[in-house]
Amino acid sequence: MPHPTHWKGKELPNVLRRLFDVPGGHRLAVARQHGAYSTIGATLFDKSPFELIELVKDSGLRGRGGAGFPTGMKWSFVPRGTGKPVYLVINADEGEPGTFKDRLLMARDPHLLIEGMICTGWALGVRTAYIYVRGEMLPQIQALNHAIREAYDAGLLGENIAGSRYSLDIYVHRGAGAYICGEETALINSLEGYKGQPRLKPPFPAVSGAFANPTCVNNVETIMAVPWILTHGAKAYRRWGTDKSPGSKLFSIAGDIGRPGVYEIPLGMPMPEFFELAGGVVGELQGCIPGGSSAPVLNAEECAKAAMDYESLAGLKSMLGSGAVMPFNATRDPVAILRTLTRFYAHESCGQCTPCREGTGYAHRVLDQVAEGKGRDGDIDHVRDLADQFEWTTICPLATADAWPIKSFTGKFRPAFDAYLAKNPDRAKPRELTQLEPGAFM
Ligand SMILES: Cc1cc2nc3c(=O)[nH]c(=O)nc-3n(C[C@H](O)[C@H](O)[C@H](O)COP(=O)(O)O)c2cc1C
Ligand code: SF4
Repeated sequence: MPHPTHWKGKELPNVLRRLFDVPGGHRLAVARQHGAYSTIGATLFDKSPFELIELVKDSGLRGRGGAGFPTGMKWSFVPRGTGKPVYLVINADEGEPGTFKDRLLMARDPHLLIEGMICTGWALGVRTAYIYVRGEMLPQIQALNHAIREAYDAGLLGENIAGSRYSLDIYVHRGAGAYICGEETALINSLEGYKGQPRLKPPFPAVSGAFANPTCVNNVETIMAVPWILTHGAKAYRRWGTDKSPGSKLFSIAGDIGRPGVYEIPLGMPMPEFFELAGGVVGELQGCIPGGSSAPVLNAEECAKAAMDYESLAGLKSMLGSGAVMPFNATRDPVAILRTLTRFYAHESCGQCTPCREGTGYAHRVLDQVAEGKGRDGDIDHVRDLADQFEWTTICPLATADAWPIKSFTGKFRPAFDAYLAKNPDRAKPRELTQLEPGAFM
């Protein structure tokens, strides 16, 4: 189904979805008919890098990879004139369960990513840039490689882009499909050929990233918004969204919803209205994971109050994250959902930090026991206590990303967990510790 163009009498933003429904839009000739590379010329090169960074700051664009960090500010941290090369690395790993927006962008409009990278590269003084793509995204890798070849042939990449004094090379790097390689320092390690394990920060990548040089890591969607902002200005971008969450954002929505898919909406749209736009909740809403699997779950009452922006969801002690929205209805079992989520995080732990390596696996095995009707009194409090211990105590936030679903699901849907415990006639007896030994998947 094509992306809706209007909603409740108003035109929906079209910053990122411009080629979603255009056949052959991944090809240069078609993309150019729709405005691709219109910034690559005087619009870009008449602006100084400093002016471009200020423009992006003024637009209020925030990183779309998960943390929502202001993009212009991040760019301003990258040192200039140090004699070292500056690298731009596009994070196209997209491993967060529920998130499927970047893969659509890359398959449908790879030239917009290249254009955004040229703009960003100009702002930061980058000569070499990488796109780090999850290895199994073959159609996207093909689309990107093809688009990059077309751009080189058209003089839009390589030496003296479009006759300017600016030169940029772009390489596509395939990851091997580990969720942790989406964390920016693990991604850099993997790009360099090492194990994809996060690094201690500081130093931050802006100062010492790829090959120990200043590096800016940005999400696909973040960079693809830049050409629109450059063409139309910061004020035009701010006509959507809220003061602190300006502009538009892609949301991937799946689960108990009428029309699952990827939608570009203004930030700040009320969550119930977004559900309506996406075809309405199927059945009676029980809850929703609003921003990717690590975002604390909301119950139905909270969903009714929520809006799709960073501050509203933070106010409900959850987060917008990568914009992956997963509503579930009253027929779904919160215990089964949490069991699946904790299995994922335990499996994806890179193993460097003891609280994460041991804690995520142990918590999952206890929840496994609960879900199989072998839970003991105190299991849920024990798992919550464990989550408290591995929240924010590790090198990267993966353990925290496991703690949040654990604490929110067991907190908001406690009766469902207690009902499982009640199924076990032996629940008051101590458990054989062998029951909690790592299983085959670890
Ligand atoms: C475990 C983990 C996985 C992540 N996966 C991704 C990912 O797949 N894509 C992404 O853009 N950011 C991901 N991030 C966030 C990145 O570390 C980083 O903040 C982001 O790429 C910065 O880009 P932005 O400022 O444009 O959002 C992940 C973070 C963590 C902790
Ligand atoms: S928190 Fe987990 S995934 Fe992150 S560095 Fe530590 S062990 Fe690895």
